[in-house]
Amino acid sequence: MAAGIDDIAIYIPRLYIDAADFADNRGLDPVKLQKGLGVSQMAIVDSNQDPACLAANACLRIMQKNKLSPDDIGRLYVSTESAFDESKAMNSYVIGMLEQVYGQGAFEHCGGVETKFACVSGSYALYDNANWIRADEADGKAALVVVSDIAKYDMGSSGEMTQGAGAVVMLLNDDPRLLAFDPKVTSTSIKDEYDFYRPFGKETPIVHGQYSNLLYMIQVRKALEAYKRKVVSSGLIKMEAGETILDHMDYINMHLPYSNMGKKALAYLVRHEWRQLPRWKNILKEIGMDEPIPKDPRGTIESVLGDEEFMAKDHEFTKLFTKTQAYQEVYESKLSSSLIASTMIGNLYTASLYLGFRSSLEFEYQKGIDLEGKRVGFGSYGSGSSAMVFSGVVQPAYKEMVKDMNLEAEIGDRKRLTWDEYEELHENKLSPEESMVHSKKEFVLVHVNTEKESRGERRYIFNE
Ligand code: COA
Repeated sequence: MAAGIDDIAIYIPRLYIDAADFADNRGLDPVKLQKGLGVSQMAIVDSNQDPACLAANACLRIMQKNKLSPDDIGRLYVSTESAFDESKAMNSYVIGMLEQVYGQGAFEHCGGVETKFACVSGSYALYDNANWIRADEADGKAALVVVSDIAKYDMGSSGEMTQGAGAVVMLLNDDPRLLAFDPKVTSTSIKDEYDFYRPFGKETPIVHGQYSNLLYMIQVRKALEAYKRKVVSSGLIKMEAGETILDHMDYINMHLPYSNMGKKALAYLVRHEWRQLPRWKNILKEIGMDEPIPKDPRGTIESVLGDEEFMAKDHEFTKLFTKTQAYQEVYESKLSSSLIASTMIGNLYTASLYLGFRSSLEFEYQKGIDLEGKRVGFGSYGSGSSAMVFSGVVQPAYKEMVKDMNLEAEIGDRKRLTWDEYEELHENKLSPEESMVHSKKEFVLVHVNTEKESRGERRYIFNE
């Protein structure tokens, strides 16, 4: 039985901090944000929003757009790394909000859990729900997988320039109009690591940014190796001599903690794949330098990062490599459209990869490209750490879903925060009733209990 993504919807908070204002107030070169990281605007949550109401707003949009009733939905999973409760799952909050619109008990048949593994858990949730459908357990119902996060870092930290917030929801069924997953090829890698983590009770993560970036690329490469073995042994893809697996992916979506990380990760994977092929000779000729090797090629991530001479040479090599015509073609045709939304919105942790997929569909369609039958590869990464590589094929009915996608319209009118407003929000100085935007037809947080017996209970309303 087929399984895949039938439709996709987003909810992005309407407040943002502009990269130029951020750079100005932090004493940074604005070019570092805009060109170095690919960050133009970062979405920031209002004082009456949390990751649960971002998720519920995305779910309501996809249900209303597709005229779905709660009876059409058999499972609702929420994947997040912004959880605010150690026990109560975020999907129960989301169902509570949706039932304010659809009626008390309307979702009582609908199972689900909150999943956690930094930014990769949404991909595990998609895989598990696709398998629920493939196993014919769905009883004709669809699954909703919603990925929702607030990427918030300490004031003045290097992560602060890669913030963002939002939710993406995907409707999964056995006759998907958008993308059917390739069966039996999903591959993972995993390793106990401390590149990025958020201990109990801490609102912001502890981040080793450069370490995390390199680990991300290594883990995705390992998952890609496993994926390659599976596509060949399952007969899904026939690889001819001189080809790489990336030649068989028309589009590649990468996890995007910031937009340029997609570029960096793609360059790393392409280098890794092409190094073994006859075409590499010509690439090296065009670059005019040999590929640098670390002093200790079998060393740890720390030893590679600490090898300053290697890091500087590798940086130079990567810059030259990404300017080659062969790499530019891969970048422009397979990845570039997926980065546009990230530049405008910022980091969405679990939702970043899927916002990228959504962005790729919209902006590739606008180029007039026929997407039917195109294979889309996904490189998902979560700190801590695990990677997942999988793929799917765009379905004949995709146009019906993609033709009306309009990122700007879906985000809605945005308010550019002043620096003072940004700091007040970041430091949680405003109560829900002091929110900056007075939204209509949206779920908002109105109260978090502080009394001993009901501490942490949250109340939400649907703003008519
Ligand atoms: N003009 C143009 N580009 C500039 C620049 C300037 N003035 N200054 C720096 N840059 C470029 C750098 O060359 C670099 O590009 P490269 O990646 O192609 O080499 C890029 O901007 C970033 O600069 P860098 O010095 O590496 O930034 P940093 O060390 O201050 O911080 C992060 C960058 C991404 C490591 C940091 O923001 C972070 O930790 N973010 C959190 C990431 C995260 O969440 N990871 C976990 C999940 S995967």
